[in-house]
Amino acid sequence: MLRAHRKKRGLSLTQFAARVHFDPGHISKVETGKRSPSVSFAKACDRALNLGDTFTAIAAALEAATRQQQGWVQPAQLPAAKRHFVGRHDDLHRLDGLLRGHEQTLAVPVTVINGPPGVGKTALAVQWAHRAVSDGHFPDGQLFVSLQGPEPDTAAAPFDVLEDMLRAVGVPPDRIPAELDQRAATFRSYLHGREMLLVLDNAADAQQIRPLLPGSPGCAVVVTSRSRLPGLMPLVDAVSLPLPELRQPEAAKLIGAVIGQVRADADPGAVAVLAERCGRLPLALVLAAERIVSHQHHSAEALAAELKPRQARLNLAEGDVVLRNAFETSYKALDELSARVFRGLGLLPGHLIDVASTASIAGVPPEEASLSLCNLAAAHLIQRHDERHYRMHDLLRAYAADLARQLNGNPGRTTTTPRAADPMPTLNSPAATSLVA
Ligand SMILES: Nc1ncnc2c1ncn2[C@@H]1O[C@H](COP(=O)(O)OP(=O)(O)OP(=O)(O)O)[C@@H](O)[C@H]1O
Ligand SMILES: [Mg+2]
Repeated sequence: MLRAHRKKRGLSLTQFAARVHFDPGHISKVETGKRSPSVSFAKACDRALNLGDTFTAIAAALEAATRQQQGWVQPAQLPAAKRHFVGRHDDLHRLDGLLRGHEQTLAVPVTVINGPPGVGKTALAVQWAHRAVSDGHFPDGQLFVSLQGPEPDTAAAPFDVLEDMLRAVGVPPDRIPAELDQRAATFRSYLHGREMLLVLDNAADAQQIRPLLPGSPGCAVVVTSRSRLPGLMPLVDAVSLPLPELRQPEAAKLIGAVIGQVRADADPGAVAVLAERCGRLPLALVLAAERIVSHQHHSAEALAAELKPRQARLNLAEGDVVLRNAFETSYKALDELSARVFRGLGLLPGHLIDVASTASIAGVPPEEASLSLCNLAAAHLIQRHDERHYRMHDLLRAYAADLARQLNGNPGRTTTTPRAADPMPTLNSPAATSLVA
């Protein structure tokens, strides 16, 4: 059928290959029945020959029959999408680009959505994944794995994650190898020729991701992480998608979606102030909005007033989700020096951070201060502002200041200190005096 349609349009194998971006040898094998057409190949043919979904439907039916024969289980592990998802149109569009890419190359597209705690990385990944699936992509299934970052010590081990994923695609327990490399190879073998989506949520570092990546070009991987995962980019052709806070109208829209638009429209000024006091960070916005919903006496205005002191914002909580705790897990993942510098940054006057003032507050040489600032930026605890400066999100700054004060008031305290047990320089120490003065 394919050959008949191709010839009817007067296209040679080579000309047709140029249109569908598949090798002429591959096309010839499909035409002579020596190879089954994949769904992505069939889609490319339908597009090139203007045939609607004629070949796509045939290929999908063939694949479904093969899956049934092989006992393939089609996992559908995506958590539910958010009812009140707002904005992120550009990011969703960029993620769509990742889908289109894989039909024409042999690479497995990997995108790393990275950003500060609670900025909406998981929500975006899940929203996009549901959209892609409802558009007919990834017919062989979707795996969603919680990697339990960012602390490498408590993060999920790739060895265990591979076992879960192999079981999820129907591999019997006695066929799951006992070595990490063999598990990874078995996983790649099972995914060969499949069109699957992997969402690897909350990754700690590049080493954790590497054994989990499929090799089959029909698959795609979306990673979320608080880290930019600097070690991953050189290993695989990953694309970094840094996620900022919401823009003002979207932040206000999110509050309105949770508390009810009528209530939000009654005092848009107060909603805007509340959104700013939450630093337009989705987690803080949701917690604040939920607080209005659950305590009926609160209005957006009353809550905004209550959250005027920065420290009060850190206590935003709903059930077991506490804003401060979300920050704490990132802080605990820092090395000793970066943790000390982070606390110091909370005491810096002004919003811009440079190497000299950082070196002064931490009492370290500029080279070490510079390295720590890079580490903090890679962990999204600060952001680059320009060539010479960084800046820090208001809520993270409040958290850092809180930690510094706790340690100043109680230098022996180590409970929230990560790998570091060193107190910040006290206000009377030479380092801090030179900076605070
Ligand atoms: N665009 C959005 N629209 C509506 N709600 C959102 C949006 N983005 C995030 N949220 C909500 O904000 C909260 C935090 O989002 P999410 O868990 O996705 O953040 P995260 O960046 O993955 O955090 P973490 O670093 O802790 O993994 C969730 O309740 C989520 O539903
Ligand atoms: Mg997340």
